[in-house]
Amino acid sequence: MTMENSYALITGASSGIGLEIAKDLAGRGYNLILTARRTELLESISKEISEANNVHVDLISKDLSNYDAPREIFEFCEYKNYKVDILINNAGYGIKTSFHETSIDDEEAFIRVLGTSVIMLTKLFIPKMLEHDGGKIMIVSSVASFAPPSAIQPLYGPIKTFMNRFSDGININYKRKGITSTAVCPGFTTTGFHTASGVQEEMDRVPRFMVFPASRVAKEGVDAMFAGKSIFIPTKTYRAIVFLTTNLPQFLLRFISNMLAPGRYDRN
Ligand SMILES: NC(=O)c1ccc[n+]([C@@H]2O[C@H](COP(=O)([O-])OP(=O)(O)OC[C@H]3O[C@@H](n4cnc5c(N)ncnc54)[C@H](OP(=O)(O)O)[C@@H]3O)[C@@H](O)[C@H]2O)c1
Repeated sequence: MTMENSYALITGASSGIGLEIAKDLAGRGYNLILTARRTELLESISKEISEANNVHVDLISKDLSNYDAPREIFEFCEYKNYKVDILINNAGYGIKTSFHETSIDDEEAFIRVLGTSVIMLTKLFIPKMLEHDGGKIMIVSSVASFAPPSAIQPLYGPIKTFMNRFSDGININYKRKGITSTAVCPGFTTTGFHTASGVQEEMDRVPRFMVFPASRVAKEGVDAMFAGKSIFIPTKTYRAIVFLTTNLPQFLLRFISNMLAPGRYDRN
């Protein structure tokens, strides 16, 4: 990959893990296209990153719950003649309201932001990557993809599991053509996620040894993406937790989960 005119497109770049991935990639010399909904925040972030790293940073504010958003982002990149070598699908949130109180529109918007828009962006950018002889894709998934279902957000874990499988499928299909896809599965990370998702109180009760800074998750994730890993869990702590999650009997796992992360799992 040549760095000149080489761009990384990052969704959910206005805060948390996406913002840290943006800073990390700019530090490695990549030009950036940042997207999220909060325009003013994106503007100040773009200016700050561009000045600190001497790279070109552009932005496009879009709400990924809108069906047309991925295509509009793609067309923006085409219009500007940006060569997108790296696609980071990171935007996400948790639904605050209990499942029985949400509308089907709420659930569909959620699936669109965390699922359908990821598929659409990947589908739109892969042909360009094939033309350029390669590319890197990252999907920010979650350790929730390996965990028992959450009582608070029944769809969150399943959509992340779906994304792991999707990423794996892309990897298998395109690796030989120079395109890899990495599902990065963080555990509890200090970001705006828990406030935005209405679970900050539960997050505050999570033991400190289970909470990691977004900058560390971003760096380990970006390294794994460049190494072409298919599924990657940042930090040894979470690799151990996922090992247990996938090997312990379910009843024991739910019991331990309730003690360590109350509120995340069914307490009945
Ligand atoms: N924090 C954790 O503990 C944790 C753990 C595992 C996985 N994750 C995953 O990590 C990813 C990033 O989350 P984070 O923790 O960094 O949370 P965050 O700080 O709240 O960042 C979420 C980002 O997604 C964007 N976003 C949300 N809804 C959007 C929409 N409808 N359209 C476009 N952009 C939207 C937000 O920007 P705007 O509000 O400006 O649109 C923001 O930039 C998510 O996929 C999340 O599921 C987080």
